Amino acid sequence: MRSFLLLARRIVTCDPARATEADPLGVIEDGAIAVEGGAIVDVGPREEVLARRGGLALVSGEPAPLVTPGLVDAHTHAPWVGSRDAEYALRLAGAGYEAIAAAGGGIVSSMRAVREASPDEIDATLSARLRRMASLGVTTVEAKSGYGLDEAGETKQLEALERASARRDLPRVVPTFLALHAIPPEARADRAAYIEAVRERTLPAIAARRLARFVDVYVDRAAFSVDEARPVLARAASLGLGVRVHAGQFADVGGAELAAELGAASADHLEQVSPEGARALARAGVRAVLLPVACFTLRQDPPPVAVLRAAGVRLVVASDANPGTAPTESLPLALALAVRMYGLTVPEVILGATREAAASLGLGDEVGVVRPGTRADLVAWDLPHENALVQPWGVSRARVVLRDGAPIAG
Ligand code: NIG
Ligand code: FE
Repeated sequence: MRSFLLLARRIVTCDPARATEADPLGVIEDGAIAVEGGAIVDVGPREEVLARRGGLALVSGEPAPLVTPGLVDAHTHAPWVGSRDAEYALRLAGAGYEAIAAAGGGIVSSMRAVREASPDEIDATLSARLRRMASLGVTTVEAKSGYGLDEAGETKQLEALERASARRDLPRVVPTFLALHAIPPEARADRAAYIEAVRERTLPAIAARRLARFVDVYVDRAAFSVDEARPVLARAASLGLGVRVHAGQFADVGGAELAAELGAASADHLEQVSPEGARALARAGVRAVLLPVACFTLRQDPPPVAVLRAAGVRLVVASDANPGTAPTESLPLALALAVRMYGLTVPEVILGATREAAASLGLGDEVGVVRPGTRADLVAWDLPHENALVQPWGVSRARVVLRDGAPIAG
């Protein structure tokens, strides 16, 4: 059913051309969406679209209550395997996240699991995870490597993402090489040599095989410094890859300013960012990817949302799905927390999980907006109004999830 007419009582278009101050989401009431060959060809009030596209078959005579663009999760660590339940128990008993990492747990324990896993095991875990994300209304997933921590391990994760992205029955996958996430145990004696090898060998090899569209670095006090990150990210940019930065999750060590300097697509986390850092992001057009599930798990204070807003930074909200700090696969849960913990508005979180997220992935002309010319990635929700999207915590209310006009869940 790649060509059809879909009726809805409310269509949340997220189209800036339809948005007004009173209605930032550009909602159409009693609307219709016409889809041909997996692309949206028409959208508007029902009678107008029916008059123009009457030849298309109706999906159903009964309008869906609420239709939005397919959700776009712009920050996940999806190709992980194994479980960090033992570490979570330690944290519940009072151990700190950074202390566990320093003792050889944390990211390095996921590294061991990835290095031991066969490609088939990673494929099976990843595709099951992406299917569960689809069932929550997610049709595009940015997914980072970063648990291999050597060329073979990182390549193994990125190859799994390449296989997943060739499948039409899963969400779209946007692969990111998380080049500097942690120093693996075998390289601890010489950090500089490890970073140089990533820059001079692993990164060019991955770029040559087009295994990643973005490169990310974890810039923080217990991770990598700005001076360590800069040459790796600059090299990535010179190889034609986009840049993303984990910045200020625990401490502000200048990650936001680095993201701005390099014209990054996003700076992510930002629990710790100065007003100057926020202004630098806004000036450079770098989007802030807020990750409230990690903030909640780590019991941190929220990022300075008012400062980011006042500076004019565009906001994205993502799940951060990972086995350590964001043990969830649910972007709707992240939206619910962003509203309740961060004080974002419902329109802000919906745009942050659709149009703004897509733009941060370089897909702004393809997904994240319901308008003619974009892909028919759509969700019909069993909810009466977009305000309800941030309420039914812990369950999925996505009734039908379409990618390119074809159902991938529901
Ligand atoms: O985004 N901050 C670094 N990376 C992840 C956590 C990774 C892990 O603990 O496995 C994050 O929170
Ligand atoms: Fe992350």
